[in-house]
Amino acid sequence: MKADQGLRVGVVGCGYWGSKHVRTLLSLEAVSRVCVIDPSDERRGAVTRVYPRVEEYKTLGEALGQIDAVVIAAPPTLHAPLALEAIAHGVHVLVEKPLAPTVQEGQAMVMAAEKAGVTLMVGHTFEYHSAVWELRSMVQRGDLGELYYLDTARLNLGLYQRDVNVVFDLAPHDVSILNYVLGSTPSMVECWGARNAHPRLEDVAQLRLYYEDPGVFANVHVSWLNPKKVREVTMVGSNKMVVFDDLKAEQRVKVHDKGVTALTDGADLTAIPMSYRHGDIVSPYLEMNEPLRVEDEHFLNCVQTGLRPLSDGESGLEVVRVLEAAQRAMSEGVAVRLPGRARDLAPAPSPLAPPTSEVVKPALSGAAQAEWAG
Ligand SMILES: NC(=O)c1ccc[n+]([C@@H]2O[C@H](COP(=O)([O-])OP(=O)(O)OC[C@H]3O[C@@H](n4cnc5c(N)ncnc54)[C@H](O)[C@@H]3O)[C@@H](O)[C@H]2O)c1
Repeated sequence: MKADQGLRVGVVGCGYWGSKHVRTLLSLEAVSRVCVIDPSDERRGAVTRVYPRVEEYKTLGEALGQIDAVVIAAPPTLHAPLALEAIAHGVHVLVEKPLAPTVQEGQAMVMAAEKAGVTLMVGHTFEYHSAVWELRSMVQRGDLGELYYLDTARLNLGLYQRDVNVVFDLAPHDVSILNYVLGSTPSMVECWGARNAHPRLEDVAQLRLYYEDPGVFANVHVSWLNPKKVREVTMVGSNKMVVFDDLKAEQRVKVHDKGVTALTDGADLTAIPMSYRHGDIVSPYLEMNEPLRVEDEHFLNCVQTGLRPLSDGESGLEVVRVLEAAQRAMSEGVAVRLPGRARDLAPAPSPLAPPTSEVVKPALSGAAQAEWAG
């Protein structure tokens, strides 16, 4: 790639999510060419009919030599082999969530990228969502008082995946949100899950994560088997409570000035035990950015400048460590301990981060922002 020529980007896997990357990449100034790489004639055809200037290849091997960077949006069990193939040819990689289905594969990807000196980023799309930035800044400012607990719910009559269970499919979003918002990683993971409609893969699961720093539990409920579509993050503190509802077209984040205080220390059992406070509900202003566009722009900016991505390979690996621990906790019925640690955040395309980023955030309508949410 010559500096003035723009990047040639391949999208490996152009199904549901890969085709959204194609649409986004085609609209970015930093991109000179986009190609799709997919063994399915039907999937490639569906993209090239809409975007005739997109080139197509059946395998990554055929496209190598024609591309500077790839977005890997193939099924999760193919993430590591495809990423390693690209990295071995000096191609920069943005790989969709989860980074890999095992820690071992994720580590191999991180090490290979480091050795080759190429960018490795993971598609933790919510880390590029203005509502999640707002949640993080509320926690950092201490707006909620003492943080009591967090709850996330990602439920639907969802698409059953072929190669990973609901924990590896949906929980990467919630774990990446929690790690980002709390600025640390969990030190203990418990998990319950069940195979209901699928003989081999868990379709419902509940994770319980303990974050030593700042000392809170987070509950993560993921399901492909629920009549109601829910995409929510709730944070409850001693002063305020917050709900982020990603399905709302507007006012996605609502801060409830509500609280409950114990009136006695519990010694006097005849006294009314709790006092309730009901105040205003405020919805903070959020920038209307399409998270996928912010993410893709950030990736290309990192490729061009050598900046470390906000959601780099290491942060992708932190999430896989939690997922793998959850899988073990679920299979063996044990609580799994992890070396919980503060997350070392790279400069990010976020108003909360040091202003080193040059990513431009385009204004989009609420409907366009809603469209990306899987
Ligand atoms: N970040 C997000 O919000 C988000 C949302 C949805 C999906 N995803 C992720 O995107 C990835 C793809 O998910 P999807 O829902 O689009 O799946 P999909 O099944 O719709 O698409 C996968 C595509 O990969 C292709 N493929 C299979 N083997 C391939 C190979 N060897 N080389 C190239 N392509 C190959 C398939 O033909 C298919 O077109 C998954 O990792 C998923 O977790 C991320």
